[in-house]
Amino acid sequence: MKLISTGSALPKRQVSNDELSQFLDTNDTWISTRTGIHSRHVISDELLEDLAVEAARKALDMAGLGVQDIDFFICSNVVNEYMTPGLSCVVAHKMGFACPMIDINCACPGFIYAMDIAESYFLAGKVNNVLIVCAEEPTRMTSWEDRSTCVLFGDGAGAAVFTRGDKLKGIKLTAEPSPDKICQTRPLMPTPYVTKEEQETPLLMKGREVFRFAVTTSSRDIRALLEQSGLTLDRVNWFMIHQANLRIIDAIREELGVDPGRFPTNIGDHGNSSSASCPILLDECNRKGLFKPGDILVFSAFGAGLLSAAAVLEW
Ligand code: UT7
Repeated sequence: MKLISTGSALPKRQVSNDELSQFLDTNDTWISTRTGIHSRHVISDELLEDLAVEAARKALDMAGLGVQDIDFFICSNVVNEYMTPGLSCVVAHKMGFACPMIDINCACPGFIYAMDIAESYFLAGKVNNVLIVCAEEPTRMTSWEDRSTCVLFGDGAGAAVFTRGDKLKGIKLTAEPSPDKICQTRPLMPTPYVTKEEQETPLLMKGREVFRFAVTTSSRDIRALLEQSGLTLDRVNWFMIHQANLRIIDAIREELGVDPGRFPTNIGDHGNSSSASCPILLDECNRKGLFKPGDILVFSAFGAGLLSAAAVLEW
């Protein structure tokens, strides 16, 4: 398959570190030096589905395609207001299309997992154009009294359209199931038969363990993927790393021994927007004209699961 367009949408409300320090025991120095984050976009009176629609429309416009041209839609999302139907159906209803669609919850690497599924559909000859939308509102998951998590996240949506082609040069998915590292539970409806007590928790994260996992898996995934794809680190023009923490990105870069100029970032004014992070970064770089035909882009993302994934795309 080949990528033909991108789109993104962000909530209008931007919250600075100083604003957070007005109600949390935190400060701009701690947040910016430990994470690289200065502010984040936070959902207030918007609906996540509307951000998803906006990102998708921008991607379709850039591709010069209409909704009738899309024959498979993958929506990556961890949480939204609906338990059912999937967010894909809510978004498709608003946009007025009805091709087959699925939702995936693969946390932060969701964009790359979605690419892998899309590629399988292309290889099976089932589709001509696939729309991927990653829409996330992690700020609705964290406790806003927990300074160790709520300062990290931001909301938004990123989208991409893929068509037939041979520009996906390789993809690698990795799983180390360990649900306690990043998790959130919610109670289900009571029944006459369930006796266990169910609790709702805010997002819980073992930050240091996740940090270590992220650096180790990302650098390993990237090396393995490049080898599998017959490419070297020198050939890569852009490393599109999940925007979770600038220190994680720096540690991955140092582990790979690559200079900083090839690692675009937007975490400073976005925070971590889970699976939306990579496609939002992709869209922002694309609209700035960063990529040239023939450029090699490596994506790498990691998160709850624990799951990680990497992909190589030729622009
Ligand atoms: O999307 C993928 C999933 N998530 C990630 O990739 C996140 C991975 N983890 C991380 O990015 C980092 O571990 C964090 C940013 C979450 C934490 O940074 P850290 O350098 O690992 O700090 P820490 O958790 O070891 O905490 C150090 C200190 C603690 O105080 P004490 O115990 O040393 O007195 C924390 O209580 O920093 C304190 N702290 C804060 N202080 C001010 C934690 N959060 C804050 C805060 N403001 N917001």
